[in-house]
Amino acid sequence: MINFKAEVVQILSSKMEELTIDEIMEMIEMPPDRQMGDYAFPCFKLAKLFRKAPNMIAKDIVDAIGENTLFSKVENKAAYVNFFVDSAAFAKAVMEEVLEQKDAYGSSTIGEGKKVIVEYSSPNIAKPFHIGHIRSTVIGNSIKKIYDFLGYDTVSINHLGDYGTQFGKLIVAFKRWGDEKEVEANPIPTLLKLYVKLHEEAEKEPQLEDEARMWFKKLEDQDPEALRLWKWFRDVSLKEFSRVYGMLNIEFDSYAGESFYSDKMPTVIESMQEKNLLKESKGADIVDLEAYNMPPALIRKSDGSTLYITRDIAAAIYRKEHYDFYKNIYVVASQQNLHFQQWFKVIELMGHDWAKDCIHIPFGLVSLEEGIMSTRKGRVVFLEDVLKKAVNTTREIMDQKNANLENIEEVAKQVGIGAVIFQELSNSRIKDYTFSWDRTLNFDGETGPYVQYTHARACSLLRKADVEVDKNIAYKLLDETALKVLKVIEQFGNVVKEAAKKNEPSIVTRYIVDVAQAFNRFYNESPIIVEDKELQKARLAVVCVAKQTIKNGLGLLGMTAPEKM
Ligand code: ARG
Repeated sequence: MINFKAEVVQILSSKMEELTIDEIMEMIEMPPDRQMGDYAFPCFKLAKLFRKAPNMIAKDIVDAIGENTLFSKVENKAAYVNFFVDSAAFAKAVMEEVLEQKDAYGSSTIGEGKKVIVEYSSPNIAKPFHIGHIRSTVIGNSIKKIYDFLGYDTVSINHLGDYGTQFGKLIVAFKRWGDEKEVEANPIPTLLKLYVKLHEEAEKEPQLEDEARMWFKKLEDQDPEALRLWKWFRDVSLKEFSRVYGMLNIEFDSYAGESFYSDKMPTVIESMQEKNLLKESKGADIVDLEAYNMPPALIRKSDGSTLYITRDIAAAIYRKEHYDFYKNIYVVASQQNLHFQQWFKVIELMGHDWAKDCIHIPFGLVSLEEGIMSTRKGRVVFLEDVLKKAVNTTREIMDQKNANLENIEEVAKQVGIGAVIFQELSNSRIKDYTFSWDRTLNFDGETGPYVQYTHARACSLLRKADVEVDKNIAYKLLDETALKVLKVIEQFGNVVKEAAKKNEPSIVTRYIVDVAQAFNRFYNESPIIVEDKELQKARLAVVCVAKQTIKNGLGLLGMTAPEKM
C-alpha cells in the first residue's frame, strides 16, 4: 500500500538535501485536527540551518513543491507545511490493497523464519473441562493465529496436566470402587467422583494417601498396571476434550503434556546439581530464590518424585533444544504468576540466556452470572454445556429472524460459538469478567452476532447487486462516509502488529467492532444500489473491502464469518 507518510518524507527530502530521510521522518506530525492536514512538517528547528525565519522556510518549501497527485493540497500555515492526502488517491491505495490481497489483507512477513511456541488450554486429565478453561483456550488460539498471520512459524502446544500424584490417587480409587463400564460411558464425571471419594475416605483412612503415593511412584517406575490405567484415563479424557476443541475449531500441533517429560527430568536435575543450584531442605531438593524475593522452588520431593515446576523446567529446555524457539509463550491464568516467575528465574540461573524469551501471558478470572448458571458447591459448569446452550439459543433466535435460512444448523453453530469466543476476547485479558448470556448473544451490542451479521449484510448486498467488483473504480466519487470506513480499514495491518506486540487479542476484537460500526454508518447514509452505475460500483467496492476486513479480523479470533444469517 502507498505509505503516505513516506511519500511526504520523499517530497520534503527532494527539496532539502541538508536533512536526512530519518531526520525528516522524525519531525513529521499528524495534526489532531484535520483542518491542519493529514501530515504536518514544522520548520521551527530549521531556522539556524537555513538562517531564515521558520515561516519563510515553510513558505519556500510549499512554493518549491507545487502540484502533486497524491496530495490534493500542500499549504503553508505559519511555520508549518501541511499536507492534505488526496481522497481518491487514498481510497485507491487502500482498496486496491484489500482487493488484491483478499484473505491475506492485513498480514505480514515480519515473522518469517522465527519460531514462536504458543502453549495454551492445557487442562488436567480426568478433571472437568469447565468454563474456567475457556480463557486460556480461546485467548491462546487467537494469539497463535495472530502470529501466524504475521508470518511467524508457530507451534501450538497443549501441555496437558497428565502427570503427578493425583494419578496415584485416581488409580487407588479406581481399584477400590471403580467400574470400567461406568468410566467408559461417562468418563470425566465418573473419574471426578472417584477422586472426590478418595479424598473423603482418606480422612478416615489416612493410609490411602500412602497407597496413592506408592502408585504414583509405580507409575514413574513404569509399572505395567499403573501405566495401563493411567493411559486409559488419559485416552478417555482426551476424547472428551477433543469434542470441545472440535466445537471451537481448535487444533494443536502437539499434545506433549507433563508426562512427556517424565524421562527427561533426571538430566535436568543433574544439570542443576552441576551448577550447584540445588539445596537440601528436609530431605527435598530446592532452589533457593530468597535473593530474588521469592519462595524456594521445590524441584524434587523427599520420596524422589518430581513436581509440576520440575516438569515445566524440563519442558522449556526440551522445547529450546527441539524447536529452537524465538519466543516461548505460555497463556496461563494470572494465579500462576509466581510459579512462572520462579521457574523462569531457575532457568536463568541454570545459565540459559533464552530465559528472557519465555513469556507468561496471564489473564484474569471468569465468573458466572448468578442465577443463570449456578455454581453451587460441587456443581461445575462444563464448557461443552455452555457452548451447546449458546448454539441452541442462537438457533431459537434465528428461527424467529430467518427460519428459511439454508443450513441454519451450521450457521447457528458458527454464530453461537462465535458469540462466546467474541465475548471472551472483548475485554483486556488481564481483567476479571463475568460471563453474561445477554451480552454474549445480543445481535445489536458490540458482540459477535453483531459483527457477523454486519458481514452477512455486506455479503447479501454484493449478491443482490451481482456486479463483479474489480479495481477499475471511480475512486473520486466516494464521499466522506465511505472515506471514514476506509480510514478504519487502512489501520488493520497496524492493529494486528499491535495485538501481537501486546499479546492482546482484544485489540483485534475492538477493531472489528469499529469496522462494523463505520460500515453500518456508511450503509445507512449512502444508498448503494443507485442509478449511477459508476457510483454504485465504487460503493459496492467499499462494501466488499469492509466485508473482507471483518472476515479476516474474525479469522484471527478463531471465528468464521457466515455469508448468510
Ligand atoms: N494444567 C495446568 C492447570 O490446569 C495448567 C498448565 C499451564 N502450563 C504450564 N506450562 N504450566 O492449572
